[in-house]
Amino acid sequence: MEILRHIVVFVHITGFALLFGGWAVEAFSRRFRINTVMNWGLVIAAVAGLALAAPWGISYDLNYAKIGTKLVVLLAIGALMGIGGARARKGDGTVAPGLFWTIGILTLLNAGLAVIWR
Ligand code: HEM
Repeated sequence: MEILRHIVVFVHITGFALLFGGWAVEAFSRRFRINTVMNWGLVIAAVAGLALAAPWGISYDLNYAKIGTKLVVLLAIGALMGIGGARARKGDGTVAPGLFWTIGILTLLNAGLAVIWR
């Protein structure tokens, strides 16, 4: 069970890498778009994260305050990507810079919470 949990953590981190990597590519090219890689990253991180939110394959207690906070942050990222993506499809394909930067900052915040808040 422990090895399976480690594999799910690996999948979860891969989702984070896709979400943040996809975002970083847009940020560095100053395009402010929500791309397919970001959408897949969010879904993968969310599904694997929810699987990890249950206490299986571990011998210690989970930090549910941290997990709840991460879930709220993830829902905020999803809402921003959903609203931004819908608006972008009606317009020129780009989102407002403030909305775009908030997505990146919240993604980093969740990764920071994951590794710093024990
Ligand atoms: C964009 C959203 C998210 C990002 C960027 C993210 C990032 C990360 C990272 C980098 C780790 C590895 C930390 C480590 O092993 O020390 C991690 C672990 C974890 N994440 Fe997330 N996460 C996100 C969303 C979520 C959500 C929504 C949940 C649950 C509702 C969640 C639950 C967990 C749990 C339980 C672990 C620890 C696994 C363990 O120690 O067994 N994450 N996350």
